[in-house]
Amino acid sequence: MKMITKLALAAALSLAAPAVADEPGPGGGKPPVPKTGQEVYQTVCQTCHMADGKGAVGAAVFPSLAGNPKMKMAAYPIVMVTKGRGGMPWFSDMLSPEQTAAVITYVRTNFGNNYPEPVTAEDVKRLSPPPAAAGH
Ligand code: HEC
Repeated sequence: MKMITKLALAAALSLAAPAVADEPGPGGGKPPVPKTGQEVYQTVCQTCHMADGKGAVGAAVFPSLAGNPKMKMAAYPIVMVTKGRGGMPWFSDMLSPEQTAAVITYVRTNFGNNYPEPVTAEDVKRLSPPPAAAGH
């Protein structure tokens, strides 16, 4: 029992470590590109919004995505992730529309959110025109 707790803690701690995506893995190879919503979440969003999606209050306030009624309108998280706001960075230059769609679908169907209509890459592209077309 004690052993299991320790192992779980070690796993949780290693997940909490800052993203090391830029560093070569133990084998020297490149880490796999996150594809599924869960992978993207764990690689990119979890640092601030936490593994359970509940966010945190510390040096900054990271709002909870868990049980968050704002996830109902898919456009809201799409704009948030592609354009950012305040302390929330934008990811349109880092995540493909497919990855953005996957992670938003993941958030909308996890952490107590139950909005099962999937977000598609088309939805993301529609709401997030390339910078040249956005006119700024
Ligand atoms: C560097 C920290 C950071 C990372 C990484 C981050 N966020 Fe955020 N996020 C924030 C902060 C801070 C806010 C609050 C911004 C505000 O309201 O001014 C926020 C707000 C949000 C909101 C709006 C919540 C609400 O109730 O209004 C959504 C949705 C969201 N983030 C989703 C994501 C997703 C999905 C990812 C991963 C692709 C992600 N965030 C990655 C810091 C972060």
